[in-house]
Amino acid sequence: LLLRYLKKIFYNSVAELRFIFFTAGLIQGFSSCSHKDTPDNALALIPQPQEMKVGTDHFKLTRRAAITLDTSNPQLIGIARYFNNKVAPATGFEIPVEKHGNIEFKLTDNTAFGAEGYRLQVKHGDIIITAHQPAGIFYGIQTLLQMLPPEIKNSQKQKGIDWTVPCADITDKPQFAWRGLMLDVSRHWFTKEEVKKYIDELAEYKMNVFHWHLTDDQGWRLEIKSLPRLTEVGAWRAPRVGQWWQRAPQQPGEETTYGGFYTQEDVKEVLAYAAERYVRVIPEIDVPGHSLAALVAYPDLACMKAPSAVGVGNKFYGEDENTLCVGKDATFEFMDKVLTEVAALFPDEYIHIGGDECFKGFWHKCPRCQARMKAENLKNENELQSYFIHRMESILKEKGKKLIGWDEIIDGGLAPDATVMSWRGMEGGIKSAKAGHHVIMTPTEHCYIDLWQGEPSVEPDTYSMCRLKDSYSFNPVPDSVPAEMILGGQGNLWAESVPTFRHAEYMTWPRGWALAEVLWTGPSKTDWDRFWPRVERHFVRADQAQINYARSMYNAIVTPYYTEDGVLEIKLDSEPGNLDIYYTFDNTDPDNFTPKYEAPLRIPKNATWLRIVTYRDNKPIGKVITLTIKELEKRADNTRHVVGNL
Ligand code: ACM
Ligand code: ZN
Repeated sequence: LLLRYLKKIFYNSVAELRFIFFTAGLIQGFSSCSHKDTPDNALALIPQPQEMKVGTDHFKLTRRAAITLDTSNPQLIGIARYFNNKVAPATGFEIPVEKHGNIEFKLTDNTAFGAEGYRLQVKHGDIIITAHQPAGIFYGIQTLLQMLPPEIKNSQKQKGIDWTVPCADITDKPQFAWRGLMLDVSRHWFTKEEVKKYIDELAEYKMNVFHWHLTDDQGWRLEIKSLPRLTEVGAWRAPRVGQWWQRAPQQPGEETTYGGFYTQEDVKEVLAYAAERYVRVIPEIDVPGHSLAALVAYPDLACMKAPSAVGVGNKFYGEDENTLCVGKDATFEFMDKVLTEVAALFPDEYIHIGGDECFKGFWHKCPRCQARMKAENLKNENELQSYFIHRMESILKEKGKKLIGWDEIIDGGLAPDATVMSWRGMEGGIKSAKAGHHVIMTPTEHCYIDLWQGEPSVEPDTYSMCRLKDSYSFNPVPDSVPAEMILGGQGNLWAESVPTFRHAEYMTWPRGWALAEVLWTGPSKTDWDRFWPRVERHFVRADQAQINYARSMYNAIVTPYYTEDGVLEIKLDSEPGNLDIYYTFDNTDPDNFTPKYEAPLRIPKNATWLRIVTYRDNKPIGKVITLTIKELEKRADNTRHVVGNL
């Protein structure tokens, strides 16, 4: 016990070693998968269709191809244009719309397809896509695109490729109506073109919601014409790199050169682009907390003292004011102006008003907020937040819109028709669904794609873990919850540690593919061993498209723990089932000639490092991981309470 106690004191005093001892890993090219696959899995579709039969023959896409569709339907014409834009750069030829083409888009009265279902029949001589709605034709096209060779994704003309599609008969429709991704454009700025690219990429995996986190403490990104300072002032901050949580605040006289915002014209362009891809765009205006940038622009909306500069990082919570004063009528006039313009701009029935992580300490000290509580008979600050959200719901209702908020909007009493986005686990969602509210599930443990997706010492900086397998094991409908109240789910990319679009892609793929499959195919049909081989095939496609993604699933999973008799052991594992793991304790490079992992390791006397690498077919595939013994001990200490689960 004493030893254990001393050890704890010692390790608590050791500074973050986690990030110091790492080596740049080996990034290897795609190594073909030796996994034996059934023919349907061999098509490597993501998400996996509901029903499919695969034949032995194929259809060949040539210059003689033509599309037949109802030319009076502009949506079908739009899908034909989309299809051409996807294939023509690589094939070098356009596919015209003609009366008797060999690729048919066919709308039917059969409502069994639902709003998004389709049947794709690929035969030797022709392709028929049948659906009840154009969205179904669009999803049939996504499946068809994935059945073409990976080079179809290249933006340069490809020579010597046969553009063949395996014969198949696929009948498919989604399990959930809400299949989303959220992008935070406040913490770091993403241009209109990058946002469009993100939407394009998610639509290729049959996702249909883009949740646009437009405002936060570190930048207000949406032009509000009646409140110009929101973007003149609120969209700009001092430039910073380095760890988000350690950044120096804006200095006196420093220029606010980092940032940007979308004009309403930019937004219209993005909305049109999304609509062509059957993607709904949900704007989020995050209030009453997370409003520091708005307070810098309009200091009168603060309770006591608005901060003087837009945040550069995250070290202000509870220190600088970032909540709108709910005591002031000016706050409601402000929100009315904002929501009037947002409601006029965005066509979707939903507007997300945030409601998360609202620090209530300033409300507690603010005479106006306290006066409001008294006048409205509110017992505490949670009820004051609830009062604010109720009023937001009334404003939105007048404009024919519905309110979504993060699950904190439950605290203090839920607004009557609010839809709840559950992020602090599933509990808030469960409670809300049982109370008759619609719910979108985005629990951190499965859906927070801003977290590490593998061994942290070889991942970019962030703060917790959500592996590919964690995203893939997501089930948005827990037992005992009325399934019809759960609209679906989404992945959330918070951008504190996402400074570039390439990195946004790295964080999103492949976890976004896992979520796409859970939400389209359905959690009861997921099968990890049949998923990861398809992920590998999509890495090849992403390479052709120059889309970035994380290969973190190839890095070893390192699990140190203490045995019953207090001995440190290290379990090594990997997400794909067919990797070999090699290690060293002698400070040399591990490779396929150093010891191969067979059973949990014990640390030799005086060892300082454990170094690990994964191989497949005698070729390195994961990054080299280097961990000090001290770091392993620290991790084992931190997980002592879960040893029983190992
Ligand atoms: C959140 O992660 N604050 C919704
Ligand atoms: Zn106040």
